[in-house]
Amino acid sequence: MNYLFPQRLQKIGPSQIRENMRLALESGAINLAQGRPDFPTATLVKEAAIQAIAQDQNQYSVTWGLQELREAIASHLLFRHGLTYDPETEITITCGVTEAIVAAMLAVVETGDEVIILEPAHENYVPAVYFAGGIPRFVTLRPPDFNFPYKELQNTITSRTRAIILNTPHNPSGHVFTKEELNKILSLAEQHGIWVVTDEIYDHLFYAPHHHIAPASLAPGWKGMIMTGGLSKIYAATGWRLGYVIAAPNISSAIRMVHDYLTICAPTPFQHAGVAALRLPGAYYTELRSTFLHRRDLIMTMLMESGFEPYAPQGAYYLLAGFEAWDHEGDSQSFTKRLIEDAKVAVVPGSAFYYQATDLGKHLVRFAFAKRSEVLMIAGERLSNAFRNR
Ligand SMILES: Cc1ncc(COP(=O)(O)O)c(C=O)c1O
Repeated sequence: MNYLFPQRLQKIGPSQIRENMRLALESGAINLAQGRPDFPTATLVKEAAIQAIAQDQNQYSVTWGLQELREAIASHLLFRHGLTYDPETEITITCGVTEAIVAAMLAVVETGDEVIILEPAHENYVPAVYFAGGIPRFVTLRPPDFNFPYKELQNTITSRTRAIILNTPHNPSGHVFTKEELNKILSLAEQHGIWVVTDEIYDHLFYAPHHHIAPASLAPGWKGMIMTGGLSKIYAATGWRLGYVIAAPNISSAIRMVHDYLTICAPTPFQHAGVAALRLPGAYYTELRSTFLHRRDLIMTMLMESGFEPYAPQGAYYLLAGFEAWDHEGDSQSFTKRLIEDAKVAVVPGSAFYYQATDLGKHLVRFAFAKRSEVLMIAGERLSNAFRNR
């Protein structure tokens, strides 16, 4: 049988991030491709997962997630941003932000609706829009500072625009949206009746003087906001698949229905551990930020010493870098292959993140630095040797 993919899948390719991770594994390269921490999850949190399994918390949870976890998320957001949500009707636990975004798209996008994505964009957004029958439209953030281009957003909005996906702190550029940028996006969205779907998975990861502002805190009570976040990155538990989506009760019921038929519920024992994670003291986040600040400074220095032009991230744990001094003849894809061969370091080509301004993507690569300093230092040595012998 000659199987043809349905149309909506023909527009999507396999994930370049996961592909580069597989290549890294096969070739023994250091994996700076995927945002996959190589340091341990907090002991207290791991113990809570072990205990939940031992105590037989191993069956489906209620579809929208354990009540204790929804309450813990509500308290966390109240404490951090002064936001008030009803865990009964507004908070849904999902299998990661990945599922949260897909569920949000399926809940709000009608076939043929347009969804605005800020590029360079995390790889999952475009497929999520296509799954829902939507059409992605792009607004380009450009180096060196990836500031938000207000006019471009204004010009991209049409009568068919249904939603905008807003990721802050931003992967892959590391841009942290300012209050002014967020206010502009929100006022355009309110004016045109567009859903704002946020992805705040890196909410605790920013480098002074930048700091994360939850878009919802600038528009209290506005019903067009769909906020997503997750536990993968901040608690170094990417394999647990825990995320959440928060929206007004009517839209939350649509999201809950989608989530129910997609996955039924997030893994129950890890939801119990998620409660323990959210109870970690404030010092946990301060230390997380200072460790990542050190890693960021280390990778910046090491890249500058090996012929790259890195753009300093304001938040999250990625950076984009140009590689002009390497005198590479091809684009970022072939450069990525060359780095695996010559330096045994895996990264992701910038072309994986740019859909409209494709020329920008050809000249950039993304480094993920959620790695222990000693691993980053070995990667640095390999890169500078390969640069010297180029
Ligand atoms: C911006 C962004 N959103 C979502 C995800 C995936 O999150 P989760 O593990 O919660 O599905 C990632 C992972 O790299 C990401 O960078």
